[in-house]
Amino acid sequence: MVAAKVRTMLATTSLVAGVAAGVVSRAAGAPYIDYENLPGETIFPGPWEQYICAPVDKSHITPAKIWKANGDVKTSPGLIVIGQGAELTVEFAENIGGWVCFTVSSVQGGGLAANLGYSESPFFAGPTPDATGDNPRDLALPFNFDNSTGTKCVGKDFLRGSFKYLTIQTNAAAEDAAATAPAAQVAISDLWVNCSAFPSQPNGRAYTGYFHSSSPLLNRIWYAGAWTLQLSTIVPEEGSALVDFNRQILGLSPAAPGTWYSNYTVSGGRSVTTDGAKRDRLVWPGDMSIAVPGIAVSTYDMASVRNALDVLYDHQYADGSMPYAGPPLGFRGEFSDTYHLHTLLGTYNYVLYSGDAGWLRRDAGRRWAQYLRALAVSMAKVDGRDLLQVTSRDDWIRPGVSGHFGEASALLHAVLTRTLRLAAWAGEAEPDGQPWQAMRARLERGLLSLYCADTGLFSDNAEDRSCNGTDRVEPQDGNSWALIARLAALQATNPSVPRNVSDNLRKRWIKFGAPAVEFPNVISPFASGFELMAHAAAGNVAHAVELCLLEWGYLLDGPGFTNSTLAEGFRTDGYVQYPAYPSAARNSHAHGWAAGPTAVLVAGVLGIELAAPAGAEWSIRPELTPWLSFARGGFATALGRFEVALRRVTAAPQPADGQQQRKGVVVEIAVPEGTRGVVQLGPGGQEVQVGPQGGGPRRWVVWEGGAQAEGVQAGSSSALGGQGGGGGDDNSERWYARVEQSDSGETLSFDESWAVPAMQDRPAGVVDWDALEKNYIQKPWAGGAQ
Ligand SMILES: *[C@@H]1O[C@H](CO)[C@@H](O)[C@H](O)[C@H]1NC(C)=O
Ligand SMILES: *[C@@H]1O[C@H](CO)[C@@H](O)[C@H](O)[C@H]1NC(C)=O
Ligand SMILES: *[C@@H]1O[C@H](CO)[C@@H](O)[C@H](O)[C@H]1NC(C)=O
Ligand SMILES: *[C@@H]1O[C@H](CO)[C@@H](O)[C@H](O)[C@H]1NC(C)=O
Ligand SMILES: *[C@@H]1O[C@H](CO)[C@@H](O)[C@H](O)[C@H]1NC(C)=O
Ligand SMILES: *[C@@H]1O[C@H](CO)[C@@H](O)[C@H](O)[C@H]1NC(C)=O
Repeated sequence: MVAAKVRTMLATTSLVAGVAAGVVSRAAGAPYIDYENLPGETIFPGPWEQYICAPVDKSHITPAKIWKANGDVKTSPGLIVIGQGAELTVEFAENIGGWVCFTVSSVQGGGLAANLGYSESPFFAGPTPDATGDNPRDLALPFNFDNSTGTKCVGKDFLRGSFKYLTIQTNAAAEDAAATAPAAQVAISDLWVNCSAFPSQPNGRAYTGYFHSSSPLLNRIWYAGAWTLQLSTIVPEEGSALVDFNRQILGLSPAAPGTWYSNYTVSGGRSVTTDGAKRDRLVWPGDMSIAVPGIAVSTYDMASVRNALDVLYDHQYADGSMPYAGPPLGFRGEFSDTYHLHTLLGTYNYVLYSGDAGWLRRDAGRRWAQYLRALAVSMAKVDGRDLLQVTSRDDWIRPGVSGHFGEASALLHAVLTRTLRLAAWAGEAEPDGQPWQAMRARLERGLLSLYCADTGLFSDNAEDRSCNGTDRVEPQDGNSWALIARLAALQATNPSVPRNVSDNLRKRWIKFGAPAVEFPNVISPFASGFELMAHAAAGNVAHAVELCLLEWGYLLDGPGFTNSTLAEGFRTDGYVQYPAYPSAARNSHAHGWAAGPTAVLVAGVLGIELAAPAGAEWSIRPELTPWLSFARGGFATALGRFEVALRRVTAAPQPADGQQQRKGVVVEIAVPEGTRGVVQLGPGGQEVQVGPQGGGPRRWVVWEGGAQAEGVQAGSSSALGGQGGGGGDDNSERWYARVEQSDSGETLSFDESWAVPAMQDRPAGVVDWDALEKNYIQKPWAGGAQ
């Protein structure tokens, strides 16, 4: 009821976009979604909401079950009684975060001293917590039940950003305790977690986007990505797990190794997107290249994105370089050439999805001026070899960042392409002499010189890690960015090369995913997120979906993972250690940079890509891929709802003898009134211009075998309502099973005969133990290379 009412209200306030210059005009009315005041109700109600992990009441999350109990623990309905020397581990339904609270209904023996142990992974569940810092494990948190009853919570500083297992270990009775003393005991009638993450959402389940397909696994992956991004979005005053680093910066006296708390201010504003929920709880710009598009299509929490960007810009160094990360980094010259460029990509993504080009112009164009100074820093590093020569070895902790570096060069190319658009949206222009376009052409030549024709992949740098180098490496990150950048020269040399590179990346996959060969022993959902984008950019959306199922399927169901949030990385043999750290317990199991599928499934399978702020212009190039028989989804922006539904159909009547029954895919779209774009009917197929008038649902059937696509009769019911008012909005579980007529009079029915293809068997990776030890990160606060 309430949901329907809110949707009606939102629909009537949807605005007509000023699309003329691709600049969003808000003058015509309130935004469809105001990300300064996110909606309290979902925008797309439907059966897909069963996949949302966010709890109904985040301030009172109770455990799903008792996972383990040792010693004096007695349970009865609604009550747990714990005595001395006992150990109780509870499991929550999913990875969550917050302050632990208890309601004590009775005490005996004057109270009980206890310790709390937290873990994301079941592998580290127990009295000793997992790790947030440089020590192998954190210290357990002392928690004393005194002799009073009532509600008791851990202190404000001891918010644990992410855990799925909580262990309460009680102290044993003192040896000299009088034998007659009554045994200490507490009766707990409630145990819950008060979560303060995603503070900008009044209702964590009020998503502004959705995804639903014939693959339950893919659906779980999409929603796990969204939930990971929500848990990683925090109250700015509750940040930073780098306690040792903070201490160094703040000059605080040393605490015991393994001490932890979450109370460092990492940005301004009321909410901010960070790298991960347990750690580092900091603004990391590299992570944002995956996180921001994912946030945009799931919760539209763009204010949290802007707060992250603002703190980076506020710490821009005097020479124009951007900090490696937000506070507590950024005070001592920490810098990375690639992360510097990711801040510029984040700027583009923020303006693209939010529509807030005005942010660049605010304060006499301060942010735009800062952007240009930062861009100049990277451009000045491109020398006669037409590649960016890095001055920092820092990237996503992977080794080998050096010389005329391919990944940074491809990133700069991608940034320049986006700068041309961003400038237009900000009412600015490329300087005379077209230096950005000229630089882009030079980078293409440089990047082509890194291409190794024998393997059909790009090498890592022009020096030792080149095709003919002493330490040849063909990196996952650099190859992915070369494809994402869509190098025109590469396409011109031989149009088959991008697809070939994508195929060659796929050939390297192992049992649990795509190895990041530039970082020995690592499967990185971060670099693999870039690989997903790369396959889609090369026209191999099917590879992207297959990699989601392979790698992200393991991130959910693999041993030691949380089956709810997505981890930072893991070892090529499948173990939960992220090889940047010697301690496997340090892995962050809710890391925004692992959320790649959330945006890529929308941009790849549904094919929705925005081409102007908030989607005033867009393109829709859907591709169901062999892995799916139906898929639908979309998202809303300030301008309105973008939605696509795809389903496999067979046509009746049967054709004459000897002919195959016609099969096809029905493509249905709905876009906001006043926007315009192009729909491509089938991969490489016919293109149809749509808008700016008449945003309501439109349908076509795209025939297998290349026959001309045709319309679907307007009279038959459609799945999508859209604010254009198509009379649809079929939110039933089997929305894809409707029967409709093509314009030529054929009856289109869902293809029930379709079967999921088998996944290829691949061998697991073999760990190189020497390389593992060699590549552990140095303690960043100890100085030296990070
Ligand atoms: C949760 O924590 C917030 C912030 O400390 C507090 O305002 C709120 O009352 C708490 N809610 C519950 C149910 O404990
Ligand atoms: C609780 O303990 C305090 C001292 O720790 C004591 O003064 C008080 O009498 C005790 N109350 C009860 C009800 O045992
Ligand atoms: C953060 O919490 C720790 C542990 O309680 C405390 O020592 C420190 O002073 C707190 N810092 C701030 C900025 O509140
Ligand atoms: C395509 O990749 C193969 C390796 O799989 C390579 O041998 C071939 O040269 C590549 N083709 C082109 C045009 O680069
Ligand atoms: C590598 O060496 C071969 C043979 O010496 C040469 O043909 C090729 O151009 C070199 N490749 C690069 C990328 O320098
Ligand atoms: C993970 O959770 C899903 C339900 O969301 C369940 O179907 C699946 O079996 C779980 N996987 C494991 C390994 O427990």
